[in-house]
Amino acid sequence: MSGINYSEKIPNNVNLVSDRTLQRALEHWQPHFLQWWGEMGPTDFQAADVYLRTAVSVDAQGWAQYGAVKMPDYRWGIFLADQVPNRTIGFGDQMGQPVWQQIPGEYRSTLRRLIVTQGDTEPASVEQQRLLGHTCPSLYDLRNLFQVNVEEGRHLWAMVYLLHAYFGRDGREEAEELLARHSGDADKPRILTTFNEPVTDWLSFFCFTYFTDRDGKYQLKSLAESAFDPLSRTCRFMLTEEAHHMFVGETGIGRVVKRTLEVMKELGTDDPAKIRAHGAVDLPLLQKYLNFWCSSSLDLFGSEISSNSAANFAHGLKGRPDESQYEDHVLRNASFHLRMPEGDQDVPMLNALNEIMRESYLKDCEIGLKRWNRVIERAGHAFRLTLPAPQFRRSIGAWAGLPVDPAGKLMDKEAFAKQLPAWVPSEADKAFVRSLMHKVIEPGKMASWVAPPDRGINNLPVEYEYVKLH
Ligand SMILES: [Fe+2]
Ligand SMILES: [Fe+2]
Repeated sequence: MSGINYSEKIPNNVNLVSDRTLQRALEHWQPHFLQWWGEMGPTDFQAADVYLRTAVSVDAQGWAQYGAVKMPDYRWGIFLADQVPNRTIGFGDQMGQPVWQQIPGEYRSTLRRLIVTQGDTEPASVEQQRLLGHTCPSLYDLRNLFQVNVEEGRHLWAMVYLLHAYFGRDGREEAEELLARHSGDADKPRILTTFNEPVTDWLSFFCFTYFTDRDGKYQLKSLAESAFDPLSRTCRFMLTEEAHHMFVGETGIGRVVKRTLEVMKELGTDDPAKIRAHGAVDLPLLQKYLNFWCSSSLDLFGSEISSNSAANFAHGLKGRPDESQYEDHVLRNASFHLRMPEGDQDVPMLNALNEIMRESYLKDCEIGLKRWNRVIERAGHAFRLTLPAPQFRRSIGAWAGLPVDPAGKLMDKEAFAKQLPAWVPSEADKAFVRSLMHKVIEPGKMASWVAPPDRGINNLPVEYEYVKLH
């Protein structure tokens, strides 16, 4: 394990002091990052003491330290998972050869693009969520929001480190651009559409952390397989932090379900209007939010057939998540059965890697649904939450713009347009959800639409004052 020197300006385990030029470049970028955080990060809570975890090492036994921190004083650092001795490339045409500590010239621009695209999502999500603090359903949730936010900030650092350390002047320019694009900006939006969708209510936030952060998990998993070893090591450590973000989503939605079931029991009805009048989220409404965020996140995996993904795999730049679980790591002779609008077809597996990733992602998404449905079933209700079919409401790939219902059935365009408000949140639904969003900041108290969590953070009670507002 490599230790981290906290007396340094930028905590790190990459021996930054030994490279003065790199250190100076990053120290030059740091105030720009802090300025971005001040302008685009969580509004109005910069003076609050937040009970946050901070990465202090990459030791599996205790990599984080917990304590009250003002967000602008958070120690964003650069941590790479320990080097695996004699690591070799695990897939593609160069399988079995030693991994790269420097970037081969021919892959430079592709790797830069991959790193910039990943890096762009990190600050984007902070921007998307910047107003949520004002309507937090509890101090516990407020703390979790800020925890996610500061860690996405650190993930930006992780990518910026790679850009500065391995891409020279181009990398430094890209690092500045990562602070210049903004989520939803008309002139300079973030690169990926989902990261330009506003996240203005907490139901969306829970869906975002469940579905969109999970896309992040799958991207990081596939980059963790990369032959470019520093990228692999960075992503492996990011995954450690990412797990909490999805925990926030899964338990958040689970608590919404729990609260709704309580209200249904109390009122003795499943009538959505009555449940809403009682300040809770009816299950069909929750289903619409799942439909929206799941379908939006599915686009992030790209087209069903992609020669870029094939090349990235063949060259060893980006593998499949959990590559070691597969038998064939070269895929030169494998084919894949694909459902396409014009009919099913078999395509070379190398070209279908986006779809393979999308499928394993959806399997991971199912886990939470099973858990929530078990709770609904135990409460004696027939309603079941489902994931929309991967062809539903797509805007990228073969199914883009096609009228497919959430069950995956291709339908008439007009009928689709008419039905859509029944499948994704309508303006009235969104207005209702907005009407539920009131700030609750008494320690231990929860908003009307969400049950308390089963336990607090780091063994503290739920009633703990996780954010001291002053
Ligand atoms: Fe992240
Ligand atoms: Fe995340």
